[in-house]
Amino acid sequence: MQVGVDYYPEHWDPALWAQDALAMKSAGISLVRLAEFAWSRLEPTEGRFDFTWLDEAISLFHAQNIKVVIGTPTAAPPRWLVEQYPDVLPVNHQQQRVYPGVRCHRCYNSPSLRQCAQRIIEQLTQHYADHPAVIGWQTDNEIVANDCHCEHCRRAFTTWLQRKYGALSNLNHQWGTVVWSGEYGSWSQVTTPLGGSPYQNPSLLLDFCRFTSDSAADFNRFQAELIRQYCPDHFITHNLWGYPVVGDYYDLFASMDFAAVDYYPSTDLQHDEKANIYHGALTLDLTRGVKRRNFWVMEQLSGTPGCWHPMSRAPFPGMIRAYAWQSISRGADVVVNFRWRTARVGAEQFWHGLLDHHGHPGRRLREFSQFSQEVARLAEVIDGTQLHNDVAILFSHQQLNAFTVQPQCDGFNYFNNVKQLHRVLVQQGIGIDVINWLERIDDYKIVIAPYLFLENATVVATLERFVTAGGIVVLTTRSGVKHDNNVCQPDDLPGLLSRLAGVRVAEYDPVGHDRQQIRLGAEMVGCSQWCDIVEPTTATILGCYASDYFSGQAAVTVNAFGKGQVYYIGTVLDDRGYQRFFAPIIRACAIEFCPDLPRDVELSIRSDQDKRVLFVLNLSKENKTVALTEYSRYDAFTGEPVAGELLLAPFDVRILIEPRQ
Ligand code: GAL
Ligand code: ZN
Repeated sequence: MQVGVDYYPEHWDPALWAQDALAMKSAGISLVRLAEFAWSRLEPTEGRFDFTWLDEAISLFHAQNIKVVIGTPTAAPPRWLVEQYPDVLPVNHQQQRVYPGVRCHRCYNSPSLRQCAQRIIEQLTQHYADHPAVIGWQTDNEIVANDCHCEHCRRAFTTWLQRKYGALSNLNHQWGTVVWSGEYGSWSQVTTPLGGSPYQNPSLLLDFCRFTSDSAADFNRFQAELIRQYCPDHFITHNLWGYPVVGDYYDLFASMDFAAVDYYPSTDLQHDEKANIYHGALTLDLTRGVKRRNFWVMEQLSGTPGCWHPMSRAPFPGMIRAYAWQSISRGADVVVNFRWRTARVGAEQFWHGLLDHHGHPGRRLREFSQFSQEVARLAEVIDGTQLHNDVAILFSHQQLNAFTVQPQCDGFNYFNNVKQLHRVLVQQGIGIDVINWLERIDDYKIVIAPYLFLENATVVATLERFVTAGGIVVLTTRSGVKHDNNVCQPDDLPGLLSRLAGVRVAEYDPVGHDRQQIRLGAEMVGCSQWCDIVEPTTATILGCYASDYFSGQAAVTVNAFGKGQVYYIGTVLDDRGYQRFFAPIIRACAIEFCPDLPRDVELSIRSDQDKRVLFVLNLSKENKTVALTEYSRYDAFTGEPVAGELLLAPFDVRILIEPRQ
């Protein structure tokens, strides 16, 4: 494990660099990320490169034995480049150019961007290939699928469609362009979805998301290939930007060695619209799922966020450390804090780093230093440990985009609904992997495959094999609704999943915010958003509606299939409903869980052959008490045995070692 910071030498007087490197060293920092926006300093005019300043900064870090990750500067094309090659600028759906002034003013499909990016990347990688301090690369910065409608994108989109559909007549047929006289007579009539209306042909809109996602992944792969040419021994990663996003992160990271994420959990716990701390747990679990292995945090919360919005609360004492440990608890091996010094210039002057504008060490740096010392102490124990979970949730950017194109009813939000399922399990201390819906799933006991709106025969076959062999699958409403091209399929819902689920949906009602009741076993629980009237074919009823005109009709079922079982939830349960639903399944699978875990306390287990490392995190401002299961364990810091109840102060972090018997 390692701890680092993001640093921008180009923002500061070079006289400060040596002092900063020294202070970083004493704060326990062994790694810096540099240069990801510094194109104008690295190549001040076209073809004239100046790496002397970066050499000097890197040599100062090297002198302190601090390693360096260099970011390719392609997210910020300099003024000369934009002036010389205006086609690098993206064009929005109203056909207006996006001008420089912020950053990310670049179209991935612009040949000029590719050409200029290639030159700077080749220069940088040749120059730093053998530098002893440089260990790896970050491509660009937070690549997202650009909603670009420039001429390059239009042409590339046409080629993409031709490859996918072949003849134009096939595209017309697959997309159903006959509606509203939308039929294309020639390829020249095919454009990106201009005008920004959400009511355009849904097949066009979804394919455009796929195309922009592919363009982003291709730009990332292009960079990775260039870097590998000269630096085959260096790692390459990229810093992904939270969730939910259009671009498919699984594709984006196909060319990367491991995943990295920028993690800015909420500091304002009272008014956190991201559904409280559990958004963070999902972000980290999703990131671990990108490559199905441990990852880095390339930017970790260090101070009050602001600038892109009014400033949020300052991190509460203990929060910086606890969130950093939370990252590690869910699979981060390296945590890089953003940023060392708070910027005094530019647009992000109030997105605070570890040091304030005055640069004197204060509370936040002290807390960070405590964290880095703890990491140094525990590195030997934690290095090499991984998460091994029995439960997986299948996640899909395709479904996310399809639901964004056609929101299903009031309150229905794919990401929030997935988050709810994840949260309900996290709240009971259950470890969950969140993985690409196209991945293999054999190693799990339970696979939750929610909202498989677009059907995919390969995924259905994978699920069928898994259940046949004894696995448990949980399916939900709004599944099997559409063909891959985003048109409704003509059979009973849930389409290709019907055999697995053993049900047909006789009718549905998008109830939205009208709360409904379900009798689930002996309990009454709530549901909303959507109500499928479920008719079992081979399944058994577990719960029936107890409200409205569909009272008495089936809502939740289970189907025996091979050696396994398939649950179908024909609605969106409330949290308590999901708890009641999952409890017997979790018990039957002998999965460890902690039903009385207090709110905002998170558990996570990393393990290797010799031991398990149990992280117990209180991510709240209140004292909490946790009753742990019987197990022989000791505190990683003090070596003292730990048994019975744990008392946790606000933002307390306890790390407990459980030797394997
Ligand atoms: C990240 C970005 C950084 C910085 C930070 C604070 O998303 O990668 O460059 O802008 O947010 O806003
Ligand atoms: Zn473009």
